[in-house]
Amino acid sequence: MCGIVAYTGKQPAREPLVEGLKRLEYRGYDSSGIAILTSPPYWVRTVGKVDALERRVWQDSPAGTVGIAHTRWATHGKPSEANAHPHIDCTGKVYLAHNGIIENYLLLKKRLASSGHSFRSETDTEVLAHLIESLYQGNLEAAVQRALLQVQGTFGLAVLHAAHPDEIIVARRGSPIVLGVGVGECFAASDASALARHTDQVVYLEDNEVARLEPGRFSITTLDNRAVSREATTLEAGAGAIERGPYEHFMLKEIFEQPEAVENALRGRINHAEGVAKLGGLESVEERLQQARHLIVVSCGTSYYAGLFARYAFETLTDLTVETELASEFRYRKLNLRQNTVVLAISQSGETADTLAALREAKRKGATVLGLVNVVGSTIARETHAGVYSHAGIEVGVASTKSFVSQIIILTLMALLIGRNRDISYEEGARLLEGLENLPDQIRETLQQSGHIRELAQKYCGFSHFLYIGRKYQYPIALEGALKLKEIAYIHAEGYAAGEMKHGPIALVDPAFPTMAIAPEDGSYEKMMSNVQEIRARDGHVIAITTAGNAKLEHLVDDVIEVPRNHDLLMPALTVVPLQLFAYHCAVLRGCDVDKPRNLAKSVTVE
Ligand code: F6R
Repeated sequence: MCGIVAYTGKQPAREPLVEGLKRLEYRGYDSSGIAILTSPPYWVRTVGKVDALERRVWQDSPAGTVGIAHTRWATHGKPSEANAHPHIDCTGKVYLAHNGIIENYLLLKKRLASSGHSFRSETDTEVLAHLIESLYQGNLEAAVQRALLQVQGTFGLAVLHAAHPDEIIVARRGSPIVLGVGVGECFAASDASALARHTDQVVYLEDNEVARLEPGRFSITTLDNRAVSREATTLEAGAGAIERGPYEHFMLKEIFEQPEAVENALRGRINHAEGVAKLGGLESVEERLQQARHLIVVSCGTSYYAGLFARYAFETLTDLTVETELASEFRYRKLNLRQNTVVLAISQSGETADTLAALREAKRKGATVLGLVNVVGSTIARETHAGVYSHAGIEVGVASTKSFVSQIIILTLMALLIGRNRDISYEEGARLLEGLENLPDQIRETLQQSGHIRELAQKYCGFSHFLYIGRKYQYPIALEGALKLKEIAYIHAEGYAAGEMKHGPIALVDPAFPTMAIAPEDGSYEKMMSNVQEIRARDGHVIAITTAGNAKLEHLVDDVIEVPRNHDLLMPALTVVPLQLFAYHCAVLRGCDVDKPRNLAKSVTVE
C-alpha cells in the first residue's frame, strides 16, 4: 500500500527521500510525489514508477534539507498527478502525505468548501491539508492534533509547513509510522526498510500519537497533547537484507532463501530430550494454552492458506477443535466465542488491516489472542497477548514465499508444543522434530530442479487457465500454488480440494485446461490417483508433484516434478516450492513485473 518517507537533517533531503521511496516500491503503488522546504517549497508529483520522479528531482536538484515523499496506491480517485501526494492547502504552505482512509472526508470537505476552501484533487487526503490550514495558529503540531481529533478513519501521515523550516509532524492511527533517529537528522517512514540504510535506531508510533521531528531529536504526544516518553530501539535486520544480490528478482532470491528461513524458524526452538518445541514467546500464556479447547486462526491471502494448514496440523497433533477464518469475514461475524478459545492471527507484515481488526474484535470478546508475525515490532506483534516471530527475514517480493514456509514450520512447532502436553507421544514428537530438521536440505534439493521447472513453464505458460488440486495437508498448497500463478503470471488458476472436482470444476477440464496435481505418496495418494485418472479420461493435461522414486506416475501424467520424502504433515513445505518456481518462471516468460505485480501491494493496510 502507500508509502511515506520524511527527512529533516543537514544533507539535501532529496537523496534520502528518493532512496527511501525506492525501498518502498515493493509495497505496490501507481504514482509518487515529493515536497521539500525551499523558498518557495519544491513540489513535484508523477504517475507511474518512482524512476520518473527521480529523474525530475535530479534534474531540478532542490537544495532543502527537510522534506516528505509518498508512493500512492489509489483508493479515492484514479492514479493521476492531481491525486498523487503530497497534497497542499489553499495557501501553498501546508504539505501532507497520508496512508489510510479518511472515512468522514465528504462531510469535512463540504464544511471546508462552504468556508471558502478550494480543492484540487478527488482524494480523501486533501481535506486534511485544508483542515490543518483552518486550525493553524502558529503551532503546526497543535493544528495537526486538533485536525486529527475531527477525523474518522485511519492515517499514517507526515506534514510540513513552510513557516517551520526544520520541522516535520507525523501521526498514526491504523497505518504504521516508524521514526528513525540519526546523528543530526531524523527520519520517518511507513516501513523501516525505507530508513534502515541510514540508522538502526527506531521508534514505533502507537495509534493516536503525534511526533514532532527536528534534526537529531523527536518528541511524542497523544492527540490530546499528553507527552509520551519512548526510547529508541535497535532495528534487527540491516540494509543488506534488502539487496537483490545475484538474483534477477527478489521473489527468486526469497524462494532460494527458504532453507535458511526454515533453519531460522527452528533455531533454539527444539527440545530433543523431550521431543517437544520450545517457544519462548508463548511462555507467558502457557497456562491459558493448557486450558484451551478451541482455536480460531484468522489471516488473509497466503497467510490464510497457512491458517488452513494450521487446521490440519493442530487437529493432527492436538485435541483442540480448530476453525480457520478469513480475517475480513471474521471481523464482521457475530462471534459466540466459547470459553477457553484462543485466536491466532497470522501475518507476514503484521500490519494487514483486516487481520488487525479481527484480532481487536477477538480481544474485545475476551479471547486470548496470539500472533505469528514476521515483521518484528509490527502492530499485530505488539497488540497480541503473546506470539512467535517467524524470523524469515525481510520479504520484499510482493508474493509471499519464504514467509509462507516459515509459517508452516512454526505452526507445526506450536501444534507440537500443545500436543505433547496432551496425547502426542515422545516418539511421535521426536519423529516430527527429525523431519523438521531434514527440511532445509530437502528444500535445497528441490530448488535444484529450478531448470526443469523452467522447461515446464516454457511448455505451459501459454495456457490461460489452470486447475490446482490437492487433498488434506496438500489442499492449502493447491490454493497457494493457484494464488501464486494468478498474482505473478496473471494466469487464471482455480485451487480446489481434489474431492470437490466432481462437484463442479471437472466440467472445465479439456485439453486447454491443464491440472497441477499435488500428489506426494501420503495417506491421500490413492484417492488423488483416481482424480488424476478422471482428468486424463477427459483429455486434460496433468503435471504431478510427487515424492522422489515414485515411478508409477510417469505413465499416467504428462509431466512429473519430484520432491524428497518426509513426514506427511511436513510435505507441504516441500511441495509448495516447485509451485512457487513454476509461477515465477511462467511470470518471467510472460514478461510480467514479478516483484511488483499489477494492482497488488505488499502490505494491505486498508480494508
Ligand atoms: C500473496 C500475498 C498476500 C498476503 C496477504 C496477507 O502472495 O502476499 O496474499 O499473504 O495480503 O498479508 P500478511 O501476511 O502480511 O498479513
